[in-house]
Amino acid sequence: MADIPAPARFIDLERYPVHRLDDPRTQALLERCRTDLETQAFTVLEDFLTPDAVQLFWDESMALHDRTVRREAVRSAYLDTPDQEDTSFPEDHPRRRFFRTWWGVVADDLIPDDHGLRQLYAWDGLTAFFSEALQVRPLYRHADRFQALNINVLNPGDEQAWHFDDMDFVVLLYLTTPEAGGELECASLVRTDDDPNYATVARAFDGTYEGLRRRKSVAGTLTIMRGHHSVHRVLPVEGTIPRLTAVLAYDRTPDKRENDAINIQIFGERVREKVEKGFNRG
Ligand SMILES: [Fe+2]
Repeated sequence: MADIPAPARFIDLERYPVHRLDDPRTQALLERCRTDLETQAFTVLEDFLTPDAVQLFWDESMALHDRTVRREAVRSAYLDTPDQEDTSFPEDHPRRRFFRTWWGVVADDLIPDDHGLRQLYAWDGLTAFFSEALQVRPLYRHADRFQALNINVLNPGDEQAWHFDDMDFVVLLYLTTPEAGGELECASLVRTDDDPNYATVARAFDGTYEGLRRRKSVAGTLTIMRGHHSVHRVLPVEGTIPRLTAVLAYDRTPDKRENDAINIQIFGERVREKVEKGFNRG
């Protein structure tokens, strides 16, 4: 145990020896991740976190409850707002379908350094594992001080509507098993950079696309996702407990930051004061 970095002990290393990239079991795991990412745009590692880590991360995250900013948005799957509606498309076209999303988020700068999730995210060994799984070399942790590490909080009744991700890839760590609802529904790789494939996107919205897949979110599961070409949503959370998900962001460039206006829009007015004082500058 002495040679194992402390943050790696949050992970079930027997099953996922991510701290030893040249271990044949890790190589086999990476091969599986790459195949999954190529064929379905996400890969799922069940029970990635130890039960103790799930409990710790849950407790530490719930302690940040009063730092959650609540968001509500109406937007298309392409992240347009209704005032950006393009009426050159027919009325029921996917470009003109708008959905409501409700959720909460704890920004990176409000997650303390001693939070277990922060320590795990800051461990270079984890970044190295994702770099190999995604075949993005080098891979960097996102540099934005609001967006790099987030905790998404979906209270009962909350949902994240259909969308394509802006980011090329993202890592999700589920900290909750909802009593019901909260499943991730995904139509994998339905578009490319050259072909928007609106007909299939429309069938995904209507639930008639045969490639639609639903996955329960289960506490301790890690998901690596390439959501830029895959339209997906989180169904309404049911029951009594919030659905907590840690969102770990990475980028191909070492100093990736979002612009201030977007951060203020996502994380609220308190961000304005911080950025005016020079916070989150390179
Ligand atoms: Fe997404």
